[in-house]
Amino acid sequence: QFPAKSGLTNVFRPTQNLHQRQVSASFATPNPPSESTYTGFFFPTDYNPSKWKLLDSSYCEGDHQSPINIDTHNIVMDEHLDAFIYKHFDDKHSIEYITNTGHAVKCVLKENVVELSGGGLGHVYTTLQFHFHWGSTSENSMGSEHMVDSKQFPMEMHIVSKRKDLTLDEALKTSNGIAVLGFFIEETNPTSDMESWKKLTNYLAAIRSKADVTEEISIDDLLGSVDRAIYYRYNGSLTTPVCNEAVVWTVFKESIKIDQNLMKLFPTRAGYENVFRPSQSVNGRKVYISASAAAGPGITTLFLLLPCLYIASLNHYL
Ligand SMILES: *[C@@H]1O[C@H](CO)[C@@H](O)[C@H](O)[C@H]1NC(C)=O
Repeated sequence: QFPAKSGLTNVFRPTQNLHQRQVSASFATPNPPSESTYTGFFFPTDYNPSKWKLLDSSYCEGDHQSPINIDTHNIVMDEHLDAFIYKHFDDKHSIEYITNTGHAVKCVLKENVVELSGGGLGHVYTTLQFHFHWGSTSENSMGSEHMVDSKQFPMEMHIVSKRKDLTLDEALKTSNGIAVLGFFIEETNPTSDMESWKKLTNYLAAIRSKADVTEEISIDDLLGSVDRAIYYRYNGSLTTPVCNEAVVWTVFKESIKIDQNLMKLFPTRAGYENVFRPSQSVNGRKVYISASAAAGPGITTLFLLLPCLYIASLNHYL
């Protein structure tokens, strides 16, 4: 009715030359379709990390890149790597929406709710999102980004936080501006409690670009009983373009265990597979491990072992 009733047509100015100006986007914006990440929003066919270096202002060829293969024979124990403090990781309403970015499934959190500190980070970080990396639907497919002693895992979950005292732009230019917690995901027996993962994967069918999350799912629920005292630490980068070398990495030794059928929903429902960047060169960087891990069975673990020993000895006598 606008052109018909007003009699005016084509009332817009054509686009002007961008010259040297840059257009930025908020963190939650899906990457625009570009040759080097994927070729279309719903049908990505080209997740090709070898081309990322060609992108504008790319750091993907830097010497502090991620992921890496963690060589456990060559790690250093660090007493400063103490327990993390997780604020609102138990909040069942912290996820605002789930989005399919065309090369990842990302759960974006409500702003300024979830926080991370401790763990030798030295700053308070606000948690922005978590997302997943996976392989294919085939049996024994591996799709983690990090490896431990050259072993790859079926999937990996990344919880991404930004230093609270910096803007996102500043954080992406600061060597410890971003903190990522990495959890490997492995197969478990289908009888264990998978309620939260079922809720989460239910959304995979519904998302084209974005789905609001109304189910109650907390990050703690998804992490389950993983021992969060034992972790590896190194300085690295984002594992997607433009690979900013701004990340303090924490990779937990123990993996989350989920049902293999749920794992397969990621490639089948999202519509693409093998979304992980291969290992990058360590280039002499040091990888640390939290002291509680390297200390071996200390007082705490022995204490936890006592009931088991008690039951074992009972069994022996019965
Ligand atoms: C990371 O880099 C910072 C600054 O260069 C340094 O102080 C810190 O020890 C490094 N951490 C690791 C785990 O290598």
